[in-house]
Amino acid sequence: MTTDSVRAAIARDGARTLLARCEALAKCTDKSGEILRTFLSPAMEQVHERMRPWFEAAGMKVNADRAGNLRALYPSASGDDTVRLLIGSHLDTVPNAGAYDGVLGVLMGLALVEGLRGRHLPYSMEVIGFSDEEGTRFGVPFIGSRAVANCLDESLLSNKDVKGITISDALRDYAAAHSEAADASLPPSTAAYLEFHIEQGPVLESQNLALGIVESLASQSRCHLAFYGFAAHAGTTPMILRRDALAAAAEWMTRVEALASDVEGLVATVGQISAEPGGVNVIPGVVRCSLDVRHAQDGVRSTAVKAILDEARSIAGRRGITVEAEEYHTQPAVHLDPAMIAIAETSLRHAGYPSMRMTSGAGHDAMVIAPHLPSAMIFLRNPGGISHHPDESVLEADVAAAIHAGLCFLDEFATYLDKKGSDLRA
Ligand code: GLV
Ligand code: MN
Ligand code: MN
Repeated sequence: MTTDSVRAAIARDGARTLLARCEALAKCTDKSGEILRTFLSPAMEQVHERMRPWFEAAGMKVNADRAGNLRALYPSASGDDTVRLLIGSHLDTVPNAGAYDGVLGVLMGLALVEGLRGRHLPYSMEVIGFSDEEGTRFGVPFIGSRAVANCLDESLLSNKDVKGITISDALRDYAAAHSEAADASLPPSTAAYLEFHIEQGPVLESQNLALGIVESLASQSRCHLAFYGFAAHAGTTPMILRRDALAAAAEWMTRVEALASDVEGLVATVGQISAEPGGVNVIPGVVRCSLDVRHAQDGVRSTAVKAILDEARSIAGRRGITVEAEEYHTQPAVHLDPAMIAIAETSLRHAGYPSMRMTSGAGHDAMVIAPHLPSAMIFLRNPGGISHHPDESVLEADVAAAIHAGLCFLDEFATYLDKKGSDLRA
């Protein structure tokens, strides 16, 4: 058999195992009846416990770091750690999630180590399961990868979850309960980052492609808004005299949809809303909601955010109510590393899979890591483009394609290092 038919056979086995593992990990949840895993939660601990023996059986040394990221190291052929390739994605989820967003990328790292069948490479490999990418618990995304990249700013640490616990409290308590946890920051030997992820959209399927290569990731803004009207009796207050915060917010939401629809490539979403006091017979006095705006170009996104927030103020003014808005998260667009993209392209070609370059509308840990390390991302086709939904799925043949291409990547990367030396930024 040629090396590639061996790789293909390993990949077919690996794909079956990987999908069974996704199913097993889907049972680790903070809420029965759906998949929900949040930053440093009990379900996240369960996931670590389930994964630990898998990594150990593959000859990896496993530890969690002080930001709750699960990390497993596979030594280089010489045993030294002068160059390290980081491979991973996240282990947290959105509410009522699917079984593959994030988890698949972490398990891909493990599948690639297993696919080496005991062979060691001229570099060490670290597989990482980031503790938070979605921002489900604190609204702030990328806590795990920010800790690794040393950019978890002081200003973020005071964000609170629904119980009033701050990120800094949560981190302190986690470190106290895990005295063995290591410092989160990357060792200087880490030379590059590779992330596999389901596409979370319909493009690859529409092109009849199993795999795609991410060239850039769209910029994003997240905002909190609060509309302040006046709560009053629903039976006695004439329509003309009302200051209904929910009616104002509803009018604004339809404008958000219209404004975003008018700009090519712009997406804007109001995903959370609460009305107070929440009585069937009380006019809503306060409405709090979220806003998420994305575009491949930073300038288009920031202009849109301004227009959308101006619209909220104008609607509120006309209705005699007030609105407060805060942009609490801004993530500029990120371009991935041309050399790493080229290695990914060669690997897919070598494995026999045609590919295309694409922009990711979804956020990924690679957005945070890429400014610090040369990074590449490989997308897997996502049937129906369904993601952030329990029906999210991936085809076993596409996972096998990703493992096959990933095994080629590991060898292409060794060749690249050989030519280039360990400092890939140089
Ligand atoms: C994460 O999946 C995001 O794009 O918000
Ligand atoms: Mn997600
Ligand atoms: Mn994800």
